[in-house]
Amino acid sequence: MLNRTLPFTAPRQIVLESATPFRRLKHLEKALGREGLFIKRDDHMEIALGGNKLRSLEFWLGAAAQADADVLLVAGGPMSNLCRLTASAAAMHGFDCIIFHNSEISETAKQKSFLNKVFGAEVRYLGNVGEDMRAKVVTQAAEELKAAGRKPYIVGDAIVGAMGYAVAAYELHQQAQADDVNLRHVFLSGSMGPTEAGFIFGNALLGNPFTVHLVSVEYGQAELAARVARIYDGLKAATQLAAPSVEDLPIHYHMDYLGDGYGRPTPEAERALLMLARAEGILTEYVYTAKTLAGFIDFAGNGCIPAGEASCILHTGGVPSLFSQFDLFRSLH
Ligand SMILES: Cc1ncc(COP(=O)(O)O)c(C=O)c1O
Repeated sequence: MLNRTLPFTAPRQIVLESATPFRRLKHLEKALGREGLFIKRDDHMEIALGGNKLRSLEFWLGAAAQADADVLLVAGGPMSNLCRLTASAAAMHGFDCIIFHNSEISETAKQKSFLNKVFGAEVRYLGNVGEDMRAKVVTQAAEELKAAGRKPYIVGDAIVGAMGYAVAAYELHQQAQADDVNLRHVFLSGSMGPTEAGFIFGNALLGNPFTVHLVSVEYGQAELAARVARIYDGLKAATQLAAPSVEDLPIHYHMDYLGDGYGRPTPEAERALLMLARAEGILTEYVYTAKTLAGFIDFAGNGCIPAGEASCILHTGGVPSLFSQFDLFRSLH
């Protein structure tokens, strides 16, 4: 029986009742001619088509409940995984939910955001505003709700959200041990930072059994490293736990898979996406996981890791986006 207890104390509401699957990629191993390739399926969860934000939501909901909140506010694009998963978790745990999309209202935007309404959230469109303006509007909406007697909680604090991935590091470590796998390398998307920093923090508390490979899908290395360091230090402060300083941690940055930038397709990502789909029946998408997979296949699959050391890609979800990405496939038209 897997132990999903916390390595630290923090308010938490359980969203996930069980561990996500940890599986060997046997067919991919065969296709690449090497052993020791695994996947951790955070795309495969009981709720709302799954994804990394559900782990963070356990702690955001915990903080919201502790603050006695009754309505969650969250912002993102119409296809945002964070918005969809917040809408679902809010409904399950009895919070109202208001979603702010920084997008014009259009039929396409409404289709992309449709699942938020399925989960009962109120959806507001702000037009094409930048992130600063979006944050301002959300803060203002929270003030208006307070004035009307409601208790809003704004979802998204990076340090609180990162706690979910410290738990994921523990979970993966236990699964590898239970399956007698010498898991030494974990690959995950390098983006805004909470998932990565949380996992790195959990790994550090475990004594760094894994080298953590961050495949950048958004920022240059300096910006990504600074984000990870800021959140990692924030976790140390919030939990009051002793952990090594971030410079001493086994983190490997992979910057070669970003292509022209966030959300832009690359030929390597397309090849990797099709390879995993056809070898294992597992889907990824262009923004996060296909680029991470390209790095995983290139580095772990092509002999850069010593034989005997297993590698795992942490699939953080986002697969629903694939339904809006047909235009990005060059080879399937
Ligand atoms: C599917 C998926 N993977 C990875 C990430 C990156 O996570 P983080 O923002 O914690 O770096 C996101 C963020 O939205 C995501 O939706």
